[in-house]
Amino acid sequence: MDIKLFFSVILVCATLCFHTTAEPVEDKRALLDFIDNIYHSRKLNWDEKTSACNNWTGITCNHDNSRVIAVRLPALGFRGSIPENFLQISRLSALQILSLRSNGLGGVFPSDLLKLGDLMVLYLQNNNFQGPLPLDLSVWKNLSVLNLSNNGFNGSIPSSVSNLTHLTALNLANNSLSGDIPDIDIPSLQWLDLSNNNLSGFLPQSLLRFPSSSFSGNNVSSEKPLPPVPPPTAAPKKHSSKFSESAILAIVIGSCAVAFVSIALLLIATNWKKNEEGMSKTNVSSQKKEKSIKRTDSQHRDEKTRLVFFEGCSLAFDLEDLLRASAEVLGKGTFGTTYKAALEDATTVAVKRLREVIAGRKEFEQQMEVVGSIRHENVAPLRAYYYSKDEKLMVYDYYSQGSVSALLHAKRGENRIPLDWEMRLRIATGAARGIAHIHSHSGGKLVHGNLKASNIFLNSKQYGCVSDLGLATLMNPIAPRLTRTPGYRAPEVTDTRKPSQASDIYSFGVVILELLTGKSPVHASGREEVIHLVRWVQSVVREEWTGEVFDVELLRYPNIEEEMVAMLQIGMSCVARMPGQRPKIGDVVKMLEEIRSVSAGNSQSAGTRTPGSTPTLTPYVAEAGSSLGQN
Ligand SMILES: *[C@@H]1O[C@H](CO)[C@@H](O)[C@H](O)[C@H]1NC(C)=O
Ligand SMILES: *[C@@H]1O[C@H](CO)[C@@H](O)[C@H](O)[C@H]1NC(C)=O
Ligand SMILES: *[C@@H]1O[C@H](CO)[C@@H](O)[C@H](O)[C@H]1NC(C)=O
Ligand SMILES: *[C@@H]1O[C@H](CO)[C@@H](O)[C@H](O)[C@H]1NC(C)=O
Ligand SMILES: *[C@@H]1O[C@H](CO)[C@@H](O)[C@H](O)[C@H]1NC(C)=O
Ligand SMILES: *[C@@H]1O[C@H](CO)[C@@H](O)[C@H](O)[C@H]1NC(C)=O
Ligand SMILES: *[C@@H]1O[C@H](CO)[C@@H](O)[C@H](O)[C@H]1NC(C)=O
Ligand SMILES: *[C@@H]1O[C@H](CO)[C@@H](O)[C@H](O)[C@H]1NC(C)=O
Repeated sequence: MDIKLFFSVILVCATLCFHTTAEPVEDKRALLDFIDNIYHSRKLNWDEKTSACNNWTGITCNHDNSRVIAVRLPALGFRGSIPENFLQISRLSALQILSLRSNGLGGVFPSDLLKLGDLMVLYLQNNNFQGPLPLDLSVWKNLSVLNLSNNGFNGSIPSSVSNLTHLTALNLANNSLSGDIPDIDIPSLQWLDLSNNNLSGFLPQSLLRFPSSSFSGNNVSSEKPLPPVPPPTAAPKKHSSKFSESAILAIVIGSCAVAFVSIALLLIATNWKKNEEGMSKTNVSSQKKEKSIKRTDSQHRDEKTRLVFFEGCSLAFDLEDLLRASAEVLGKGTFGTTYKAALEDATTVAVKRLREVIAGRKEFEQQMEVVGSIRHENVAPLRAYYYSKDEKLMVYDYYSQGSVSALLHAKRGENRIPLDWEMRLRIATGAARGIAHIHSHSGGKLVHGNLKASNIFLNSKQYGCVSDLGLATLMNPIAPRLTRTPGYRAPEVTDTRKPSQASDIYSFGVVILELLTGKSPVHASGREEVIHLVRWVQSVVREEWTGEVFDVELLRYPNIEEEMVAMLQIGMSCVARMPGQRPKIGDVVKMLEEIRSVSAGNSQSAGTRTPGSTPTLTPYVAEAGSSLGQN
């Protein structure tokens, strides 16, 4: 007993001592006090025992981790109007960025925030705050962005706004503010939106430089006519909204070479129309709500900005952030185009924009719930999704190394680092484990449906990790795009016959062959003939495998022939023509793991061998070492 206690004490001490290096203890306490006393429908990973600076959702610390400087908690489903909560926030006296936008926060303006003298950015838009704005805002001498739009603030705009000399953006749109507009003579101010309030009187001289849209939906007049065109400094987002959809398509297609576009450009065209009809202040609360998904009710104010997150996700952003992110086309796949989106807070995600979805909202959401609930180190986690009539998005982690397809088929030249054999084994083994997990999900009914090398990535341990699963049932089966990667499609899968677990095995077999041969599943031969990898491998007689089939890049690694042959046999069994003859994924995993363990467990050195004979195998470690030595 005593010994146990002793060890527990040591353990606790060790955890504390080693994990509390540079922790903003006070700030952390304040954050916990804040979150413990406010209803939020999305769970947060704010564990007292982990470091607030390293991986708490939405929290950023300064460089030496002594203070919390940014709290970004948009769309967390906060509820209520508890002033004490803002008292807790105000304890974060070094805070520079606070975003609580798109939540259900209500009550009067949280004046405790006026204690935050270092505040530079404050986002409280899309909440239910009411009543007047504070009279004296002068304490926020560093404030640069103030967004209080889409709330219920009334009364007049305090003239102390003009004391915020660092202000660059002020958005008070869609409130019930009334009275005159004060003289806001701030040279740094570039973005101003006071539209849709109850403001009246004359426009002060200092504000004539802003476009009339900044003041629309009010009853203000100006002696001089308002400038018809916005100045060049006006928000680019506004301009982009003017593009027609075809113009945007042209931009997207045109920029494929450069590949840098803004997702905003892509989405605005489709969302803009809805924006205009959608969310007038009066019908916001009566907008139709869905009962099916509990997390989503947090954003009943604006159904369109509703990204649905899955638990355990440490990302904090909303659709607005995504819209603002700069995006790079990563690839055009079977079900849509994937973009790399770099968010404001330096996180990068992969956003997949789905085409040809025929499933209705309910079916789509149900399938997303299934896919999003899968957590396995060999399955790329779905972090969030978005569904509207015009747009369906899925948010995944971004894998900086790229897909296995890219790693394998990137232009072969002097600068290329070839995928070594050990990597290829880990990719196959990892991917197989991921598929095994998927196949055991949903009572053993779940199907990946779109396995291919471009949907396999490397996880943090450099093992394969499969992505893009479970979409086939949502898509239009006769869409031409679905048949565009025939190299992976099992022969029995036709327009009318959907993928099955057995067809997943076939596709995985093709991936194995791809890893072994370094060839694409369908490739052109010298004689302008299309070659199907599977048929080609099957056509090569066994005796010729080593010389003909295997990737020349692999031949430089000594003593791996048996392993390659063993893997080829697994691949061949997976691509058996009859679905019933293919192995189950559990067996595939076992066989792949045996390749490695057999070789690891055998310390004899390798000699010359005939493929297919009982192999004498090389110790794995030694072999990895020798392959490293060659690079
Ligand atoms: C938080 O970070 C620690 C180490 O930095 C890590 O061990 C832990 O798994 C992380 N937790 C989450 C939820 O990401
Ligand atoms: C706020 O402004 C003061 C000067 O007005 C400056 O010294 C201080 O560093 C600023 N704080 C931040 C966080 O930028
Ligand atoms: C303020 O919030 C509104 C509504 O979410 C958004 O449209 C606008 O771009 C934001 N403005 C700034 C400057 O952040
Ligand atoms: C602001 O709204 C509150 C109720 O929400 C009301 O009591 C108050 O009179 C309003 N103030 C003004 C100036 O309209
Ligand atoms: C601006 O700040 C100065 C001093 O900080 C103060 O005297 C003045 O009243 C403020 N102006 C407004 C409009 O609040
Ligand atoms: C806005 O002003 C109009 C008339 O100018 C008035 O009828 C209406 O009640 C006002 N709305 C609010 C929310 O104050
Ligand atoms: C707009 O303001 C003018 C005076 O500035 C006033 O005569 C008029 O009634 C106002 N219109 C509305 C709809 O409030
Ligand atoms: C204000 O609401 C209108 C429609 O009700 C919307 O088009 C506009 O984008 C909103 N403004 C902001 C800044 O959110």
